[in-house]
Amino acid sequence: MNSIHDQTLATLLSRRSAWPLSEPAPAPAELEAILQAAAVAPDHAGLRPWHFKAVQGEDRQALLHRVLQHPDAQTGQVQALQGKYALKLTTAPVVIVLAARITPHPKAPEFEQLLAAGAAVMSMLNAAHLLGYSGFWSSTPEPLAALLHKVMGFGAQDRIIGLLNLGTPASVTKPNAARTPWQEYAQRWRA
Ligand SMILES: Cc1cc2nc3c(=O)[nH]c(=O)nc-3n(C[C@H](O)[C@H](O)[C@H](O)COP(=O)(O)O)c2cc1C
Repeated sequence: MNSIHDQTLATLLSRRSAWPLSEPAPAPAELEAILQAAAVAPDHAGLRPWHFKAVQGEDRQALLHRVLQHPDAQTGQVQALQGKYALKLTTAPVVIVLAARITPHPKAPEFEQLLAAGAAVMSMLNAAHLLGYSGFWSSTPEPLAALLHKVMGFGAQDRIIGLLNLGTPASVTKPNAARTPWQEYAQRWRA
């Protein structure tokens, strides 16, 4: 490998998730580039199952408000989780609500479409990293996923698969922990 490839690979391999995230956020053109990176995900049958809604600025508070005001949120369970929902939806400067749109298909079963949507999210994480930002994929345990689905206008075939938070680490990050050596999860198979 030449040195440019070495550097590119070293940058790719240095990606870490970070939390909490703060400003600076990706600029508009950078966010577009990050979203575009989803489109290079592998995609059986060309279904493009990834569907995202990016929320920024005051819209994050407005989204939280709508989630908490929804009739389905008027339960003790959700009221007890208000602080958690606020952290999830309003901490990072960019919060992308992630969905996989599952289309019945004879050759691309649901699990493949979920994997393709996940690969699209990974591609966005890498793009954000290459642009000098950090990301954090966080989950939306029920009933948050159902509430986001309702208040944001997702479709019947859309399955919420979490949040992609983007921004800059709010504090100095810890030195990178070593990654798992590949030998622990991959072996050469020989006949
Ligand atoms: C679908 C999905 C949901 C996740 N949800 C959470 C979460 O809610 N909270 C959390 O602490 N980590 C969550 N993680 C893990 C983090 O995004 C992150 O990958 C982990 O902290 C390891 O950091 P690394 O990406 O630098 O290896 C989730 C990961 C995935 C793939």
